[in-house]
Amino acid sequence: MDVITKVNEMQTRVLSIKDRKKSIGFVPTMGALHEGHVSLIRSARKENNKLIVSIYLNPTQFDNEDDFNNYPRQMDKDIEIVERENADLVFAPGTKELYPEGFCTYVTQDKLTDSLCGRLRPGHFNGVTTIVTKLFNIIKPDRAYFGQKDYQQTVVIKRLVADLNMDIDVRVLPIVRDEDGLAISSRNKRLNPEERQNALCIYSSLSKAKSVFASNIKDSKEIIEEMTSIIKKTKNIKIDYVSIVDPNTLENVSSINGKAVATVAVWIGNTRLIDNIILE
Ligand code: PAJ
Repeated sequence: MDVITKVNEMQTRVLSIKDRKKSIGFVPTMGALHEGHVSLIRSARKENNKLIVSIYLNPTQFDNEDDFNNYPRQMDKDIEIVERENADLVFAPGTKELYPEGFCTYVTQDKLTDSLCGRLRPGHFNGVTTIVTKLFNIIKPDRAYFGQKDYQQTVVIKRLVADLNMDIDVRVLPIVRDEDGLAISSRNKRLNPEERQNALCIYSSLSKAKSVFASNIKDSKEIIEEMTSIIKKTKNIKIDYVSIVDPNTLENVSSINGKAVATVAVWIGNTRLIDNIILE
């Protein structure tokens, strides 16, 4: 497995894969790889001839300097994990390579980025749509893999691909959780044992949403109240949002008709965590 750091070298390698008519599966990541990333990598491995994983901590999608500075970095371990999963290539460029001097073109998206994390993290999704467009242009994947964990991101990327006529199949895979239900996240590494325990209220609130919905309650306000009361019982936690949204438009729904997504963002100490569950 080769680790490639230069854009032009990556493009040459991609050209040669395309010449041989092999399909490319692509998993974009910001590193600090865990079982959630591994599940995407394994699906991509199964469904494509060639597998490319990118590891790049993209500064333009961070709206908070501390979050960027404290984001876990473990390149050597990440490369070992990707190698163990039989990837063909790792793309791990530096920031000067992706944002060279003079860089001034950004991909922006409205509507879908006005709500949820987009509303609370200004600029975040422009950073995501810009870097993902760049990575797609460099790697030209047939299929790209994303986790439902970042639900809004999956909707934004699907729309990006459709709106800009990119010929890429966007695959969305289920959330991988620890045994006690906490969604695995690179940011979990920053939680101390007490915070880790407190974070369990996120999954409890989502499970509650599921059981309340299953008991035939379709009124979002009622479900949100039940979810919020669970989170509020937990110490040292601040709610960014508890919402029930349409799975495609991400707009709040007042009553669940068919399918909706219950989604939560909270601060546990200095760490912001998100999670969601599909209600249908
Ligand atoms: P990152 O947070 O590293 O996540 C990479 C991919 O792993 C995303 O698609 C994310 O949804 C998925 N993922 C994370 N935790 C998961 C879990 N517990 N179960 C399943 N999938 C999980 O998302 C990003 O990076 C960046 O925004 C990126 C798309 C790479 C652009 O910079």
